[in-house]
Amino acid sequence: MIFHENGIFHLKTEQYSYLLKINRWGLPEHLHFGAPVRTEDAAGFACTPGIGWGSSVLLESSDAGSCVDALPLEWSGSGRGDYRETPIELDGKATDFRYTGFEIVPGIVPMSLPQAKDGGETLILTLEQQGARLKLYYTAFETALTRRAVLENTGDSGLMLTKLMSQCVDLPGSYEMTTFDGGWIAEMGKHTVLVTASRIVNESTTGASSNRHNPGFLLSEVGAGEDHGRVYGFNLVYSGNHYASAQRSLQGLTRVMQGISADHFAIELTPGGRFETPEAVLCWSDAGFNGLSRRMHSFVNGHIVPKYWRYRHRPVLYNDWEGCMFDFDHRRLMGLAKKAKSLGCELFVLDDGWFGKRNHDKAGLGDYKVNRKKLPMGLEGLSKQVRKLGMEFGLWFEPESVNMDSDLYRAHPDWVLTDDFEPVLGRHQLLLDLTKAEVRDYIVQNVSTILDKAGITYVKWDMNRHSVALGAKAHAYILGLYDVLGRIFAPRPQILLESCSSGGNRFDLGMLCFGPQIWCSDNTDPICRLDIQGGLSYLYPQSTFGAHVSAAPHAQTLRSTPLTTRGNVSFFGVLGYELDLKHLLKVEIEEIKEQTALYKRYRKLFQFGIFRRSENGWQVSDGQTTIAGVFHKQLPAAPGYEQLRVPGLTANRPYKLRSRAQGLRIGQFGALVKHVAPVKLNPNGFVLRTADRLAMLPDGEQTVTVSGAALEAGIMLQPLFRGTGYDKNQRTQLDFGSNLYIIEAEE
Ligand code: DGJ
Repeated sequence: MIFHENGIFHLKTEQYSYLLKINRWGLPEHLHFGAPVRTEDAAGFACTPGIGWGSSVLLESSDAGSCVDALPLEWSGSGRGDYRETPIELDGKATDFRYTGFEIVPGIVPMSLPQAKDGGETLILTLEQQGARLKLYYTAFETALTRRAVLENTGDSGLMLTKLMSQCVDLPGSYEMTTFDGGWIAEMGKHTVLVTASRIVNESTTGASSNRHNPGFLLSEVGAGEDHGRVYGFNLVYSGNHYASAQRSLQGLTRVMQGISADHFAIELTPGGRFETPEAVLCWSDAGFNGLSRRMHSFVNGHIVPKYWRYRHRPVLYNDWEGCMFDFDHRRLMGLAKKAKSLGCELFVLDDGWFGKRNHDKAGLGDYKVNRKKLPMGLEGLSKQVRKLGMEFGLWFEPESVNMDSDLYRAHPDWVLTDDFEPVLGRHQLLLDLTKAEVRDYIVQNVSTILDKAGITYVKWDMNRHSVALGAKAHAYILGLYDVLGRIFAPRPQILLESCSSGGNRFDLGMLCFGPQIWCSDNTDPICRLDIQGGLSYLYPQSTFGAHVSAAPHAQTLRSTPLTTRGNVSFFGVLGYELDLKHLLKVEIEEIKEQTALYKRYRKLFQFGIFRRSENGWQVSDGQTTIAGVFHKQLPAAPGYEQLRVPGLTANRPYKLRSRAQGLRIGQFGALVKHVAPVKLNPNGFVLRTADRLAMLPDGEQTVTVSGAALEAGIMLQPLFRGTGYDKNQRTQLDFGSNLYIIEAEE
């Protein structure tokens, strides 16, 4: 609901209140964002500057309260006394927008960019200055709100816009800012710094939302933890260059703004012209980081992902990329598909390499003609046979890119995105200029035809280089991309679109508006994934991240991790398998079958359950059943006791906790087996190597029935290996080991 009383506006749901007022100078002033309160409480939140702030500039010299530099504002300009960062720049000129009116309308107000859907109500504040009108939109959703701005040229000459943020707000208080930064195979590294007088910036200028700095970030009160403390979460429904900053003023107000990056940005608005920013998402919780994540997850699952896929289960897929790369043909793929089916996979995905001269990454991008040498029966023939097995068929595309060695480039060298210098390549490729209508039409037509002909129910939409487009051109590119995605996928809502950009180079809410999941990293090493998926979990629900089990040693880290851990980590996402299945050992086949069966049984919980980061892992719960993953990186010798705490259950209700049956490879003991085997065995010999491939020892078995109160307090897990032999009730997997516990309410 949105209330309005005497110039005070109140967005209120059961989860939060967002209060602002129009002050006596016509400036929107921020009052409160946090726990739900009454509209009448507004009086208690206003900042009163008393007799003023020294040398500051006043809007009215007799009124110390008119010092805009010291006010908590919802928007601001420049040159009028507010010396903090401005959310709007009109080619270096002063700006001074004042309130002229408002509207409250039901639902969302449709816009030209992807946006959150099915909102409650929208408040539109209108602010004006000579020759320009600014509209600020606030839409209330149950667990979060969105804000955006639209600038209109109401004058009779051109208006040069060089910066327009989606939102700006001054929050009282001192905060730490957490951003998620990294690069290829190292996405979503969590960094936290105290916000003080110097500006902290979270920005991308690569043309994409980027793996360098995810657009989502957090502000938390000092001392906040996973389950306690006040935390704000911010994100942007946008896939291009973004900007966010936080800075604390002398008055103790933290100014936070978000929007499209102003780097190289300039766009001329002709008379009557307008510019629309993407939506910013603002969310709050006083139940710590987990509390904030719960609200963000519910917002993304309920309002961002396409309607068809909201809370709809996702298939367990097999993707051929890491197993085959470019080296495959029909026979090999069918062999893999049959194996994948027998292991429990439901969708077979053919990745890169199926078209043109795409036998390596230096040629073929841009062409859509199937490589008949590899696939003599075409995509249709392959898809038909895969579907006959009882699996769905999915296909990889990289439609935004082109290799210079391609028929497309030879025919249309002018279709590529250039910056008037010699082309610079990324992964041997250029980007197509999606600001051109004919380029967009080419992509829409080719991709749509293939989708309709080959019975495709899943698309992996890849993009593997940074852009050369800057500022407004980079924005126009993203608008072009959204046009293409909308035209291909809106008429085919049942196609599961998983976007990808060298892994997580475009993991953002804009892409999630078109497809409900994103390939979050080319790094599938489960120990790295603890950080990558863990980082994502702060702002994105587990239903949005593709999480695959791959081979060990791992291709990117050369680390060997138990298959158990590779499965246990991937369960907390959308499970897939991406390795050569031909060389699997018997023990691995059995284990994978068991993994897919378990995942399917608890799929709803894994994909959509309430997610929690705990002291030693991750948990998903629906109140009735909780699954807890306990993960270890490196453990010391003789590790101590370990507890598992599961909060949020019914205190006096009994719950049965059981460990997921998992095995221990005999080979893990190496030469030590000689101490337990009745006969002398060569640790590298045939007998032991064979045993290692055929059978596993039970590991870490535990079953106990206790109350919800006991689980909240923390129950003791089975001891870890302490250097003194094997026992099935001990958890013998040490470094990179993990355990999964299923906790179900008893009648
Ligand atoms: C980059 C992606 O992230 C990979 O998963 C794979 O699809 C390759 N591209 C194919 O070229």
